Amino acid sequence: MTFEQAKAKVEKYGQQQVLKYADSLSEAELQALVDQIEATDMDIIENCKHMDELAKRGVISPLSAMELSEIEAHKESFTATGIEAIKAGKVGAVLLAGGMGTRLGSDNPKGMYNVGITRELYIFECLINNLLDVVKQADAWVHLFVMTSDKNNDATVKFMTEHDFFGYKAEYVHFFKQEMAAATDYNGKILLEEKNRLSSSPNGNGGWFISLQKAGLLDLVHSEGIEWINVFAVDNVCQRIADPCFVGATIQRNCVVGAKVVRKAAPDEKVGALCLEDGRPSIVEYYDMTQELMDAKNEKGEPAYNFGVILNYLFFVSDLEKMMSSLPLHIVEKKIPYLDEEGNLVKPEAPNGYKYESLVLDMIHQLDSCLPFEVVREREFAPIKNKTGIDSVESARELLKKNGVVL
Ligand code: UTP
Repeated sequence: MTFEQAKAKVEKYGQQQVLKYADSLSEAELQALVDQIEATDMDIIENCKHMDELAKRGVISPLSAMELSEIEAHKESFTATGIEAIKAGKVGAVLLAGGMGTRLGSDNPKGMYNVGITRELYIFECLINNLLDVVKQADAWVHLFVMTSDKNNDATVKFMTEHDFFGYKAEYVHFFKQEMAAATDYNGKILLEEKNRLSSSPNGNGGWFISLQKAGLLDLVHSEGIEWINVFAVDNVCQRIADPCFVGATIQRNCVVGAKVVRKAAPDEKVGALCLEDGRPSIVEYYDMTQELMDAKNEKGEPAYNFGVILNYLFFVSDLEKMMSSLPLHIVEKKIPYLDEEGNLVKPEAPNGYKYESLVLDMIHQLDSCLPFEVVREREFAPIKNKTGIDSVESARELLKKNGVVL
C-alpha cells in the first residue's frame, strides 16, 4: 500500500487522526505506519456505533451438566477411552497465551509469572507439569500449540526455550501468533501508541483456530491425526489438561465439544454459565445473567444455570473446520496506552477506550452438541487474573498448596 492509499483508507473511515505525525516521520517509519494501516480491519470499529445490536441474545434455556456423581460412576471407562485416544495421537492441546494480562499488571507474558514462594515456579511450568502428568499416564506425548501475540511472542518463546520447555519434548511444542486489532477511544477513534504506530491489542482468544490455520499448523494437526483439541487458558494453574476422563466422556457421549465447568459459588458469580440459546449450546456471560435466570430452578429444585465455564474446552477438529460464520464481536472497555495531544505516552490508570475481540466461548454456539463436564473447583479452578483478592496470585497459591504443590 502507498501512503496515498493509506490516506484514502483512513479518510474513508474517518480515522485521519492516525496520520497526525506523518510529516515528521522518516521514510521507514512512515512505511511501517502505512503497513499497519493496510493490515488493520477498520470495518469492525464501526460496530462500536451500534453496540446494542451486538448484545442481542436468543432465548435462553438450561443445559444440564454431567455431574461429579455420574463421572465417578463411569470414571474407569471414560479414562480408558481417553487414554486410548491420547495414545493414538488423537488429542492435541492449545494454550491461549496471547492475552495482555493487564489486570495482573506485569510487563512480562502472564505465563512468566513466578507463583513460587520458596522456589521459582512459573505459571507456564505449572501448566506443563499438569500436562506431563497425562503424558506419563498415557505414555504418549501430546502436541502442545501455544498461541502468543505480537506483544508477547518473542519473550514467550525465549523464556520457554531457555527453560527447556520445563521438561516437555521440544518437537511437541509449537508457537503461533494471533492477529491484532486496533484499539480506539470511546468515540471509535483509533489511538496512537507511537507516532507511527496505532494502539493495538490481541484480537481476543476466539481467533485461535483461524490463527492456527494461518500459521500452517492445521496441516500438522491433520498429518499427525489429531482429532480433538483441548483449548485452555494460561492463567488457571490447577486445571488438568488433555484430561483422559474428560476426553473419554466427550467421546462416549458423542459430543463435538466438551466444556469443563464448576458449580457456581453464587448465582451472580462472574463466570459464564453453560445453557441453550435458541436450542443450541451456548454460554450466557455473567453480565447477561438476568435476575430471572439467576432465580430459575431445574426439576431437582437446584439453580438451572448452576455451572460456570473455566475456559477449558475440548473441540472436535472436523466440526471446527465446518464452522462457516464468523464469531460475534465483543467490544470491551480497557486501559489503552496512548499519545496525548503533546505526543507523550500515557498509560491510563482507568479504562479509556475500547478493544475489539472475539471470544472462544462463542464457538460453542456454532457447534451442534456440547457436554458440560463438572470438575471440582478446589482441584481445578485457580485462575490468576489479579495480584490480590479474588482470582489472584494469592488465591491460586492457596489452591496449589491444597493440591500438594510445593511453592
Ligand atoms: P482474559 O480474558 O483473562 O484476558 O484471557 P487477559 O488479556 O489475559 O487479561 P486482562 O483482561 O488483560 O487482565 C483469558 C485467556 O485468553 C487468553 C489469555 O492469555 C488467557 O489465557 N487470550 C486473551 C488470548 O490468548 N488472546 C487474547 O486476545 C485475549
